[in-house]
Amino acid sequence: MKEKIKFFIGRIKAGRLQEMWRQTLWIYQYARHHWFAMIFYTLLGMVGTLISLGTSLISRDLVNIITNFDNGGTPKAVVNTFCVMIGLNIGTAVISQISDFASNYLSMRVDAEIKSDIFGKILVTDWESLTGYHTGDLLVRWGSDASAISNGVLNFIPNAIIYVFRFVSAFAMVVVNDASFAIFAFLGMPVSLLLSKTLLNRMVNNNKRSAAMGAKMSGFNQETFSNIQVIKAFDLIRLYIERLKQLQKEYITMRMDFQKMSIWTSLLLTTVGLVVSYASYGWGIYRVWSGAIDYGTMTMFLGLSGTLTGTLNNLTSLVPTAIGLTTSAGRLMDILEMPREDYSADDEVQQFLEAHRSEGISLAVDDLRYSYRNGTEVFHHASLEAHPHEVVALVGPSGEGKTTMIRLILSLMQGQEGEAVLSGGADSVKLSPSTRKLFSYVPQGNTMFSGTIAENMRNVLPEATDEEIIDALKMACAWDFVERLPEGINSTIMERGGGFSEGQAQRLSIARALLRRSPLLLLDEATSALDVATERQVLKNIMKDEYPRTCIVTTHRPSVLNICKRVYAIRDKRCVVLDEAEIDDMIRNF
Ligand SMILES: Nc1ncnc2c1ncn2[C@@H]1O[C@H](COP(=O)(O)OP(=O)(O)O)[C@@H](O)[C@H]1O
Ligand SMILES: [Mg+2]
Repeated sequence: MKEKIKFFIGRIKAGRLQEMWRQTLWIYQYARHHWFAMIFYTLLGMVGTLISLGTSLISRDLVNIITNFDNGGTPKAVVNTFCVMIGLNIGTAVISQISDFASNYLSMRVDAEIKSDIFGKILVTDWESLTGYHTGDLLVRWGSDASAISNGVLNFIPNAIIYVFRFVSAFAMVVVNDASFAIFAFLGMPVSLLLSKTLLNRMVNNNKRSAAMGAKMSGFNQETFSNIQVIKAFDLIRLYIERLKQLQKEYITMRMDFQKMSIWTSLLLTTVGLVVSYASYGWGIYRVWSGAIDYGTMTMFLGLSGTLTGTLNNLTSLVPTAIGLTTSAGRLMDILEMPREDYSADDEVQQFLEAHRSEGISLAVDDLRYSYRNGTEVFHHASLEAHPHEVVALVGPSGEGKTTMIRLILSLMQGQEGEAVLSGGADSVKLSPSTRKLFSYVPQGNTMFSGTIAENMRNVLPEATDEEIIDALKMACAWDFVERLPEGINSTIMERGGGFSEGQAQRLSIARALLRRSPLLLLDEATSALDVATERQVLKNIMKDEYPRTCIVTTHRPSVLNICKRVYAIRDKRCVVLDEAEIDDMIRNF
């Protein structure tokens, strides 16, 4: 039984170390771009070490001169040595300021670089995989974990080298002056080694807990602040304050656990340091007393023994740093190793677009099957088609799969069976993330960004003129209310369309989609907040427009169905074309 447990623990450890190794390699990918900064840091640290060793040599001389006035020590020598010491101290201060400045600058640059790289990678991660994570969690991973990596990349290796260098050079100085002191350098080592081994496992767990807690907090804050209206409306203010307090309590408990561990660690290390310095003190007194060394050498040794124990502690502290780093790397790898979207058809799609923009592009979905990852099958043998100058409707009660079909058309998700292609003339391209550039999309809900109306419009078409913006607003029946605003198209939209009614924000979203002049337009319940007359008018405007647009609208309201070219209803996971009688029936029974 015991053997089995041991074997099992061994296996787990192998797994963990292997995992850490993989994470280290991942960090190395970033580290190797910053070798220049690392060398810079290392050199600075080494210069600092040399200066401080120089200072201990000088202080030895100073003590020796003072204690040796009878044997040739002169006031002039004292003044000179003092001056050198002051010079070295000023040098240290100046170097430390310069290095602070340089290190801040480098850290910020590396941090920005790594973050923008990870940002870009997260944005091209498969959408469905990404939706498994709370945005609060994503924010923490992208923010704190990426910062941890950038700091670690810059500091870890240089620090390791500097500490080793400092240890070796201080040690060498000890050996050169009096080899018998060398033993004190290693006195603390067994404890340090023992400590780093036991710390390893606890640190890994602690770091994971801490990261999970951070994600939970961030998610809570983010959801609370973006839903203040709901919290007020349901009178949940007290409940949410209580929830925050509960989370804070959990956080504090976790931090205190962590704190306890670090208190014990530092108590132990301090005790070891004290024992070592008392021992070297004692040994030093003995050596001076027996005439083996002079006073100056003894003072120098006392300083050096402090440096040696301190450096060993520093080396030990690299263990938790390494664990923190690899934990952060692991959390970023979770995200970055999810499937990436495939944009390899970008060029092909661009050529296809240029060849067929003028006559328009058709969409055909054929025999599609799609299940969400949780097993919900939404489509099986589903087919539909839409052509330029057509408005095609997809109807059905809520939850039937209208939005899912739009997501499939946008290649946010891929069907498990069947085919979906865009065609123009005899050419065709398969739907893929690359084909998204052919679509304009108006999703459910409010998706305007904060900024002015014109800025929102130019987000999708930077070179749009005011006239083009106004034309798009007119087509979306939004111009009548925008025109009446004191600042017209330069009026400000607040976060998530704030400052406008839902129907107005919907019309602004439609205008934005129209302005982009994409060959295909997808409206997902995009007219749900409009009155029936305006809804019909918007769709009629789109149909009348001479631009060869293929338009698919989803709706649960049948009020516009009789102006659509074709109407599909989702039934038994298929898309079924409705005939006129069925459409009339739907309109009557609505
Ligand atoms: N991210 C998701 N993961 C799992 N199931 C989902 C997801 N999104 C939607 N569904 C399920 O797919 C079905 C269709 O949803 P949806 O396409 O949003 O419906 P509609 O837009 O027609 O109201 C629903 O039964 C819903 O439960
Ligand atoms: Mg929907």
